[in-house]
Amino acid sequence: MSNEVKTRKTRIIAVGNQKGGVAKTSNAVHIAAALGKRGKRCLIFDLDMNQGATRHLGVPSESFLGTFEVLIGEEDPKDVIITPEDGVDLPENIHLIAARRNLEKIDQALAAKDKFFITQDVLINPLRSLTGMYDYIFLDTAPNATTPTIAAYKSAEWFILSATPDPFAIAGLNDALTDIQGAQRHGNPNLRLLGVILCCVDSRTILANSLSEYVEQLFFDGDRSLKFKTTISRSIVVPQAQKLGKTLFETAPNHKVTKEYLKLSKEIEARISEIEKSITTQQSVTTSTVSVK
Ligand SMILES: Nc1ncnc2c1ncn2[C@@H]1O[C@H](COP(=O)(O)OP(=O)(O)O)[C@@H](O)[C@H]1O
Ligand SMILES: [Mg+2]
Repeated sequence: MSNEVKTRKTRIIAVGNQKGGVAKTSNAVHIAAALGKRGKRCLIFDLDMNQGATRHLGVPSESFLGTFEVLIGEEDPKDVIITPEDGVDLPENIHLIAARRNLEKIDQALAAKDKFFITQDVLINPLRSLTGMYDYIFLDTAPNATTPTIAAYKSAEWFILSATPDPFAIAGLNDALTDIQGAQRHGNPNLRLLGVILCCVDSRTILANSLSEYVEQLFFDGDRSLKFKTTISRSIVVPQAQKLGKTLFETAPNHKVTKEYLKLSKEIEARISEIEKSITTQQSVTTSTVSVK
């Protein structure tokens, strides 16, 4: 991997929510797989000691060096990227930096290394060194505020909030927003909420529909809602694929949920390019104002 030519514009997207079981990992893996299917090169960086993304991709979790070694500075991130050349059957265009159980001990390991080191910034340099190699880097975060997860909030430029339409998960969305704002205030002003995915939706129920409507309103921003139009339906095919260590693109390529992920990946790309365009326009307006003065 180290001879890789750096040419791509890399978007770094953290997928998160302080709640567990709200489809963070399923979303990160399937959005990446959908983008990969459509020809985009993606890296999934598993930052959860529970190794959700690593397992979902069918990678034996204790077999590879990965996130822990990168975070403590023992390994160059490029040297621990898992690719099909490592004998692992990964989805098209998807690479992985794997998590292992040793992530539990990351705080002690970092403290022992250098007590003045700002642990929350531990991902900034590794991500910088991967910039240009991928179209998208997905940071799959843990529900609890562990160092790797906080570091993801501190280093990503985009944030996708994963939510499910159950009352408790919806009640926690304000806390999720507080976390994003905290990261923006404390060192990552560039972090931007790209959107909210509503997953595990059973559109036949009145509750799901009214919660979906509530989320749509809660995330109204300017002239549109940050909730993605594409929602992901609840289906047993998702846990089945997860157990097999595969994505839906291998296990159920023609399923409704697989198609929803493809559609969502297009919506995500369109939204990124729309926002980037509006930022560029704002910047050029500012620049021309300055030059007129
Ligand atoms: N669309 C879906 N339909 C049904 N079950 C789902 C769906 N998406 C995720 N799940 C299941 O919900 C559980 C939690 O998902 P996961 O992605 O591991 O959440 P998190 O990463 O937020 O903890 C898993 O068992 C997963 O298979
Ligand atoms: Mg997870």
